[in-house]
Amino acid sequence: MPTLWNSTLGRRINSSEGVKRYTIVPVTMADLGNNERRMLKVMLEEPDSAWTLDDLLNSCGWNDQAHVAGAGLGLEEMGFLEIEEIPSRFISLGPEGIRASENGLLESRLLNWLLERESSARTMAALSSDFEKSESGPGIGLLKKMGIEINKGTLIIPDDINSIQTIINERQSFISTLDNEGVDSENLDREMISSFKVRKGIIEITESVSRTWTLTQKGKNSDISTLDETQLIVDLTPEMLQTDEWKNAEFKRYDVNLPAPTPSGGRPHPMQSLIQRIRAIFLEMGFSEIEGDFVRTAGWNMDSLFIPQTHPARAMQDTFYLDNPQSIPIEEKWLNLWADVHENGGDTGSTGWGGKFDQDEARKGLLRTHTTVNTVHHLAENPNEPCRVFGIGRVFRQEAIDKSHLPEFHQIEGIIHEPEASLPMLVTTLKTFYAKMGYPDVRVRPAYFPYTEPSLEIEVKWRGMWLELGGAGIFRPEVTEPLGTEWPVCAWGMGLERLAMLVLGMDDIRELYLPDLQKLRSMPII
Ligand code: PHE
Repeated sequence: MPTLWNSTLGRRINSSEGVKRYTIVPVTMADLGNNERRMLKVMLEEPDSAWTLDDLLNSCGWNDQAHVAGAGLGLEEMGFLEIEEIPSRFISLGPEGIRASENGLLESRLLNWLLERESSARTMAALSSDFEKSESGPGIGLLKKMGIEINKGTLIIPDDINSIQTIINERQSFISTLDNEGVDSENLDREMISSFKVRKGIIEITESVSRTWTLTQKGKNSDISTLDETQLIVDLTPEMLQTDEWKNAEFKRYDVNLPAPTPSGGRPHPMQSLIQRIRAIFLEMGFSEIEGDFVRTAGWNMDSLFIPQTHPARAMQDTFYLDNPQSIPIEEKWLNLWADVHENGGDTGSTGWGGKFDQDEARKGLLRTHTTVNTVHHLAENPNEPCRVFGIGRVFRQEAIDKSHLPEFHQIEGIIHEPEASLPMLVTTLKTFYAKMGYPDVRVRPAYFPYTEPSLEIEVKWRGMWLELGGAGIFRPEVTEPLGTEWPVCAWGMGLERLAMLVLGMDDIRELYLPDLQKLRSMPII
């Protein structure tokens, strides 16, 4: 393997003069590309010169400065030459400057105006009517600075008019030395530059850096006979391999450390990728996927889950109730069963919440506030079939948007309904899920939900902190009894965006949904 040269081989050192130097791993002349060979060979004709861009372009026969820049950088990295950067400023005429060079500077035109008039006619009023407002205002300031005074609205020219004339002539001649191209500030009067710099549009200053390339001792010592350009092969073709041709061929070298544009093709939105990954994990764990509509009844969203009709979360401020459909029919059977359970516990042995169950309240249309509405509805439809199901879906709550809240977000919901369903099974399932997601540290803590007993909060350890990601528990008899289910039901619901924030390492939930392509492109692949 021949020695590859690149910046990782040489260590960049900034010397006291600020000139970049490298300690270099030995390279052979064979490591030089054709452009580098040509440039080095040209420079060896005048080994002590500081070469300018134009000199190099001419002598190398190039018309693209990228060749000089590229070959120069390569040679610099290998220690053959040094590049010196000289910043310079070019001064050119701005739009006002161009007018001033054609019609005279404002101060010059104003002075002429004054001199053309009797001293009594040199009034501010006359001046204001003869000049645009944009000129008369700053113009008076300029004249005053040169010694012209104002007395009761009349401008008074001092006796020493010549010195004013001289200043104006100097300024005018400065302007006439400038052009549109720009003149190196080194060749111009500094004070003039700074006085015009503060006036609008007269001069424009462009900064640029010019470079020179000078051979180092190592460069000067290089053996010119090794610098002939060779035919370099870019691709090794099958045809070449069939002969022995490749053995003597010289191959073009690649520097894999050179900066290159990052191709940005399409990719799924990180949230979509995350949903796919979660889906894959639950499917792999033996779960089936279920779905449901966004528009639901308060009955299925809340009453079926034994959430009391007076619960604060049911209030308008928390839930999006719909105007259309304002009310959605529900089978009488369910309304009666829920009414029983809510009012007196029905057949569950519970005392219920008491009070009177409002069927109209149950029929109210709303945007689902949690995906638990899907799992409970699935149980109602399949009370005698064991199941392990999950769903990932959007939910809606009246939340003010901030870094950790959105009015629309997603939940990952699931249930296990089977004879042996139990709390340890629930905890193990959740732990397994998070471990597969890459978060092996999970703990559960007691919590409260109206529809589960016992109830848990699931927490995941992230960067040393415990973060709450969801709720879980065993559905209460007040939920399962009316549904006619046969076995215990493990249930959980977790926030997808919360999890996304961990996975993507962000601390503002809003970033997930901003159309910032740059950011989205740079998010980790999930
Ligand atoms: N529905 C609860 C929530 O929105 C989560 C949960 C689901 C809790 C199932 C217990 C059982 O936060």
